[in-house]
Amino acid sequence: MTSTSFMQSPPGPETVIDSTRYLYFGGTSYLGLAAHPEVIEAGCEALRTYGVHSATTRARFGTIPPVDLVERRAAEFFGTEDAFYFGSGYVANHILVSAFAEEADAVLVNSGAHYCVLEAARASRLPYYTFAPRDLGTLAEIVRDFRRVLVMSDAVGPSDGSLVPVLEYCRILKGCERAFLLLDDAHGFGVLGDRGRGLVEEVGMWPSVNSLEGDSSLSVCVCGTLAKALGGFGGIIPGTRDFVSRARRSSHYFDGASAPASAEAGATAKALEIVMQKPNLRQTLHTNTEYLRNGLRALGLTVPAGRTAHFGVTIGNRARMENIHAALKARGIMVPYIGAYTGIPEEGLLRFAVFANHRVDQLDHLLTELRAIL
Ligand SMILES: Cc1ncc(COP(=O)(O)O)c(C=O)c1O
Repeated sequence: MTSTSFMQSPPGPETVIDSTRYLYFGGTSYLGLAAHPEVIEAGCEALRTYGVHSATTRARFGTIPPVDLVERRAAEFFGTEDAFYFGSGYVANHILVSAFAEEADAVLVNSGAHYCVLEAARASRLPYYTFAPRDLGTLAEIVRDFRRVLVMSDAVGPSDGSLVPVLEYCRILKGCERAFLLLDDAHGFGVLGDRGRGLVEEVGMWPSVNSLEGDSSLSVCVCGTLAKALGGFGGIIPGTRDFVSRARRSSHYFDGASAPASAEAGATAKALEIVMQKPNLRQTLHTNTEYLRNGLRALGLTVPAGRTAHFGVTIGNRARMENIHAALKARGIMVPYIGAYTGIPEEGLLRFAVFANHRVDQLDHLLTELRAIL
């Protein structure tokens, strides 16, 4: 997919795209930190102090202080002993696969998962099977044929905001001799769970993940990104010291790639600090999200339940949604229509993203204009 659109401001409730300022409900800056002045200043300061980047790998001298600080703050945020910070959340699944594939005989992947999950599953070079996210029968059936399995999924659908049934997956996998459940919680980190640790915290499983200890036959391993709700940039794998050390050694990402860039590390460390200092940001995000969900329901639309900051709404067919998208755009409101993406319905969907810094009058404005269009 190619786009000729240009974003000409930071992403936020008001965003300039192709020289027009829109009331913006796209993307993933859920906690509204991408343009936070302290985050920007911390990025600039790191850039001035350390240059663009260290021009070496983490295994040499690439751990500049802001990179180290991101790992320490991420560990604090997730309540873990350590965390591995790297250039992009896209490779997080590849790193986990490199760490655990040798202990499995087959990989089973949610067919609607994000592209990076599907690609990482293929890269495992294990026999490859797919299951639809809610097709527990197929998952249980395939799993029965193998002694040791790697099951991969994203935790939250990137476009529709649907949650995978993680407890049901675990119940099935506990029957295996050895199982690994690898979850990419890119859209749950910072949003779901009492402390924003994602879907596994939301369903009460957080402390028992990302550890090599214990004699359970099932290991749940979670990875994600700091580039969405958490307001920074780059991939993250938190966990116990041993777990993180294995993740660092598993692929050559640690010793074969440039360490994260200075500005992004400086900004990310500051964003994590703000997220921890201001848990009310997450509360405001939930209040805003609930407000918009309810408002859309009052317009007669079917809106998925849940606390994710983004969700997909399907209204009629492709042409109808393209028209709604265009009509909103003409009124200065940007709600992306996603026509094709992994894990979405054939006809596509309107993807609504809510931010902690959307004001109620902005949400009301969207609802008023939408009411006029429908
Ligand atoms: C589920 C999921 N994983 C990973 C990524 C990529 O993360 P990053 O942007 O940090 O590379 C995305 C981005 O959209 C995503 O939706």
